[in-house]
Amino acid sequence: MYNQCQLKDLVDKAIVNLSYNTEAEKLIDPVKYILSIGGKRLRPVLTLMACNLFNDKIDEAVIPAAGIEVFHNFTLVHDDIMDKAPVRRNFPTVHSKWNINQAVLSGDVMAFIANDCFLQTPPRHMVKVFKVFNKAAVEVCIGQQLDIDFEKATIVLQEEYIRMIELKTAVLVAASVKIGAIIGGADDRDAELLYEFGRNIGLAFQIQDDLLDIYGDVKVFGKIAGGDIISNKKTFLLVKALEIASEEQHKHLHELFSAKDFDPDEKVKKVVEIYDKLNIKNITERLANDYFSSAFILLEKIGIDKERKKELALMANSLIGRNK
Ligand code: IPE
Ligand code: IPE
Ligand code: MG
Ligand code: MG
Ligand code: MG
Repeated sequence: MYNQCQLKDLVDKAIVNLSYNTEAEKLIDPVKYILSIGGKRLRPVLTLMACNLFNDKIDEAVIPAAGIEVFHNFTLVHDDIMDKAPVRRNFPTVHSKWNINQAVLSGDVMAFIANDCFLQTPPRHMVKVFKVFNKAAVEVCIGQQLDIDFEKATIVLQEEYIRMIELKTAVLVAASVKIGAIIGGADDRDAELLYEFGRNIGLAFQIQDDLLDIYGDVKVFGKIAGGDIISNKKTFLLVKALEIASEEQHKHLHELFSAKDFDPDEKVKKVVEIYDKLNIKNITERLANDYFSSAFILLEKIGIDKERKKELALMANSLIGRNK
């Protein structure tokens, strides 16, 4: 069995070895840049772990796993344009280092490089893998559209928020795991259970991301503090705060989030004061942990020796209370 560290190395090597059409360097420089500045490589490692559950040989899954990471990076480049984010992984975002047009185009190129990687799936699994990937890719776009729509919505219900993060984040994590399982030779039941496992991990992961936007250590997390507050994102923290706030706090939050001219630091400080009074940090951590618990229950149901599931369980466990 491979461990997390070994799998991350395999993914990193596959990414370094990707080949590009370099006719327009301006297009490829941002691709190389975003892929080289790190990232946890969570999704491709999950792909390889899921494959390794069913198969000792994982080489057939390595390039498709790299494809998932390239696709993820494409979504980040476009996400940073939409969210007007200046920093990612402690480095300037692509559109701030270059410009929006280059970020759009190099993002597009990455989506197709990802496709090229999936074309290296063994033919016997190719159609299944592509169907899972394409479905997730469209869903990510739908989730991102909802995320943007919600910025302007006055009230977003918890269930609407959950559906939004399911689409923008959880389905890609779920697809990553399922694709690994398919290439490893899992039957349909196990592949579906693993999809659900990944979906729950993905939901927990995005809820933690919302939390880290405020309560994370900027240097470790690698993104600016309070970015979601500045851009009026309906994070879980805000959705829950609006749900349980007193009338006065509700009014105050509404004023803070509808102000056109504001000092960003002041806005973040005032919103966080309300979150703290409402114990939002704890409530958020509890919800993320509930999704992790559901994921572990699903993992137990997979028809494989417990010993073989150890690495996947360790990996999921290491995400609980993550700080980056
Ligand atoms: C960031 O994903 C976007 C979210 C879905 C929260 P990651 O936190 O996996 O980003 P990297 O790849 O490790 O930088
Ligand atoms: C990211 O959501 C979802 C996708 C990239 C599809 P966020 O906007 O919260 O991610 P970060 O915080 O910028 O990484
Ligand atoms: Mg976003
Ligand atoms: Mg963002
Ligand atoms: Mg975020």
